[in-house]
Formats: sequence, structure tokens, C-alpha cells
Amino acid sequence: MGVSVKTDGHYLINNVSFKLDKGECLGIVGESGSGKSTVIKGILRLHNSKAIGYDGEVLYKGENLFSKTPKEMNEVRGKEMFMVFQDGMSAFDPSARMGSVCAEIVRTHLPVTKSEAREMICESMTRVSLKDPEKILDLYPFQLSGGMLQRMMISLVLVLNPSVVMADEPTSALDAITQRKVLDDFIKLKNEHDSAMIFISHDLGIVKKLCDRVMVMKSGEVVETGTAMEVFEDPKHEYTKYLIDTRVRLSKNFKVLMEGLCREKAS
Ligand SMILES: Nc1ncnc2c1ncn2[C@@H]1O[C@H](COP(=O)(O)OP(=O)(O)O)[C@@H](O)[C@H]1O
Ligand SMILES: [Mg+2]
Repeated sequence: MGVSVKTDGHYLINNVSFKLDKGECLGIVGESGSGKSTVIKGILRLHNSKAIGYDGEVLYKGENLFSKTPKEMNEVRGKEMFMVFQDGMSAFDPSARMGSVCAEIVRTHLPVTKSEAREMICESMTRVSLKDPEKILDLYPFQLSGGMLQRMMISLVLVLNPSVVMADEPTSALDAITQRKVLDDFIKLKNEHDSAMIFISHDLGIVKKLCDRVMVMKSGEVVETGTAMEVFEDPKHEYTKYLIDTRVRLSKNFKVLMEGLCREKAS
């Protein structure tokens, strides 16, 4: 597939092309504004502005998604391709309790009753270590922490069993400890489920742990693609080297800072 997204005569992303195999996890990295989110919004045609235009083709199960009608695309989103957002709050209707919000999402895609949907959700919540599912389902979205909301989305993935999961910076808004737990759930999802995954993150460490292949983006174009091993251990493009160096420098600075703090404390 190859996708271009344009507005006002210029391209936000230009002929971004990649293949995603069943069960495979592709990481998309690049600095802020490089076009990572635009890739998945383009695939799902999620932009709601008339100024945005799409070019190219998205081949999925032998069909071009760009030839589908908006109504057909609604069926693809959620059941076939599930999107996990950075901000869990924006994914759930804030005015209803988690139980009915999630049951509604499940029932949009599966022919089950409300109580069957709730039972399925409870079962998958325990698989992502969300304890006391019944209690959580009685809460409103704003009463859940960011990490819990992300894990609720992963629970929905487990219930809906989409072919592709698209996660756009799903751990970026979380503190370090919660980030680790949610990442573990993503690793579990990848290992125990056959959904393919597109995982966007500016955190190269996370991508290295989770993804099989990596695509590096800069200014709306792909500068390098390869297995995670190739890209991280033997980067070809200067920009990839720069991203990796920046990460190493940042973690070294952090270490120096921590050591400085420990010395201050000891003296
Ligand atoms: N709806 C939009 N209309 C116009 N420009 C947009 C829109 N969405 C994103 N952009 C622009 O496209 C570029 C890529 O944005 P984005 O995909 O959000 O980057 P990333 O996710 O890598 O941070 C940026 O320059 C951004 O300003
Ligand atoms: Mg983004």
C-alpha cells in the first residue's frame, strides 16, 4: 500500500508505503510533526476536514480501502482495525458508566446481548490485570486513571479481535511505572493474539522492545524501514542515527543528573 495525505496543495505525508503481515508489529518513529499520526488517520480516513485529500491505495484483504464508502469504512473501523488513542478519555463517552460504554462498543460490532458483552469485557479485563472488573465497569470514564483507560482499550481489543490494532502514542501520557505496565500488556497482546499492530511512539526504547519492524519518518516521508534489529543496531540513514544518538544522550544526561542528585543528598 502507499498513502499520501494532502491539504492546500501540499503533502502532509507523501507516498508512505509499507506492508503489514498477519501478527506482525510495525513501529513508526520520528520526531513530533513528522507525519506518524497522519499515516494511520489516512489509512482509516479519520480526518474530518474537507481540506484534506487522500491519494494512493490501502490494500486490505485484497480490497482497496480508499474505494470504500464512508458507511463501509465505519464497519472497517473498530471491528477490523481498532485504534488505541493516546488519551484514553477521548475514546470513551464521558456521560455513561464504563460498563455501558464498552458494552455499546462491543455490540456495535458483535451480535451479543448487553449482559453477554459485559461478561466478555469482564473476562478480558482480568487478562490485562484489571482487578475487580465489575467495580470498574460501574465507574464513569473520568474516575479511571490514564493507565486503566488504556488497559480498558486493550480489553476491548481482546473482545473484538480486530485484524489490525493501531496504537498512536498509547503510553506517552502515562507516568513511567504505569507506562511499563501498559507496555507489558501490549507485549502480551502481541504474543498471545494474532492481530497485526501499528505502534506509533517517539520512545525508541518501547519500540525496540515491542516491534518486529520499524519505519522511520521525517517531514512526511519514510527515510528508513527494516527489522527492529537492523534499524536500531545498524541504522543506515543519518536521521535514524540522530534519533538514536539523541536518545542515548538523553538517557546519559538523566543518569548524570540522578547521580548529581544522589551526591547532593549524601553530602
Ligand atoms: N488536519 C490537519 N490539517 C492540516 N495540517 C495537519 C493536520 N493534521 C496534521 N497536520 C500537519 O501534518 C504534519 C504531521 O502531523 P502529525 O501526523 O500529527 O505528526 P506526528 O504524529 O508525527 O507528530 C504536521 O506538520 C501537522 O501540523
Ligand atoms: Mg502524532
